[in-house]
Amino acid sequence: MSTFRSVVLGDDGVRLLDQRRLPHEIVYRVYADPDAMAGAIRDMVVRGAPAIGAAAAYALAHAARTMDAAALIAAARVLAAARPTAVNLAWAIDRMVRRLELDGPGGLGDEADHIAAEDVATNLAIAEHGQALVPDGATVIHHCNTGSLATIDYGTALGILRVAHERGKRIHVFLDETRPRLQGAALSAWELAQLGVPHTVIVDGASGLVMSRRAITCCLVGCDRVAANGDVANKIGTYNLALVARAHGVPFYVAAPRSTIDLATARGADIEIEERSPDEVTQLGGIAIAPAGTPVFNPAFDVTPAELVTAIITEHGVLRPPFGPALARLGG
Ligand code: MRU
Repeated sequence: MSTFRSVVLGDDGVRLLDQRRLPHEIVYRVYADPDAMAGAIRDMVVRGAPAIGAAAAYALAHAARTMDAAALIAAARVLAAARPTAVNLAWAIDRMVRRLELDGPGGLGDEADHIAAEDVATNLAIAEHGQALVPDGATVIHHCNTGSLATIDYGTALGILRVAHERGKRIHVFLDETRPRLQGAALSAWELAQLGVPHTVIVDGASGLVMSRRAITCCLVGCDRVAANGDVANKIGTYNLALVARAHGVPFYVAAPRSTIDLATARGADIEIEERSPDEVTQLGGIAIAPAGTPVFNPAFDVTPAELVTAIITEHGVLRPPFGPALARLGG
């Protein structure tokens, strides 16, 4: 188990490790009502597809101690609208609403605990299946943060690398810094340092040079939504990394729990891409780095077409192209 959990249910509300403050300070904040939790998800106090799903589920579980079913349904709608791209949020809330309809507010604590426990088990299964793709001596490029912070524990792509390291494989991980929110530099580097996994942070634009000068075994990333045809939405910059990987013949692997696979969305072009504040691009630590009023386009995610993906690593096994039939076999 990791030293720090990003989401914990307490008596007074849901405690979130404030990821905006890492790596400088470890601060937990308490969110006692669903509106406040929706704000925390939007502001990225908690982030990462599985973690925001679990945080929303726990917010509803805590609210169920005082709210009736109608108020909980309204709260579920507010939470679902907090961020649009990661399907885990809608998936977790759907589960909570179904349980509410079945057992009333009293069932929600149990359902949220199940979502959280399943996430840990899922990550361990993904880590197990992923071992076949990460041999001893591997050098891997990773984008964004997919570790314990982005999940309940272990993580998806970083969970695979953590287990590889725990099993004594000598691996090295290049971490894309991940502009503009710096999840790679601030969060993934913080996690890998605690775990003792050898790593090096690079700026996002360095991956081409790194792949041309070093023997890179593979790129390994997480994701926020996989469409039914295998197109993958993930943190902005993932598509560029996949293109560079293809140009250099480097395998491109995506770790995806079943909860991130959205069979109801036919292809990547149908995935809503969140656009965030221009301030994330024009400021660094509150300091302006662009002229005042500079026009900005700030999509938080991009879509990597299925043809650039070598394999999708799920808790059910490693899927290879064609992804459409392989994903459909996972069922509902
Ligand atoms: O905007 P974020 O930080 O929530 O985006 C997170 C990512 O893109 C992760 O790579 C993805 O959610 C996978 S987390 C296991």
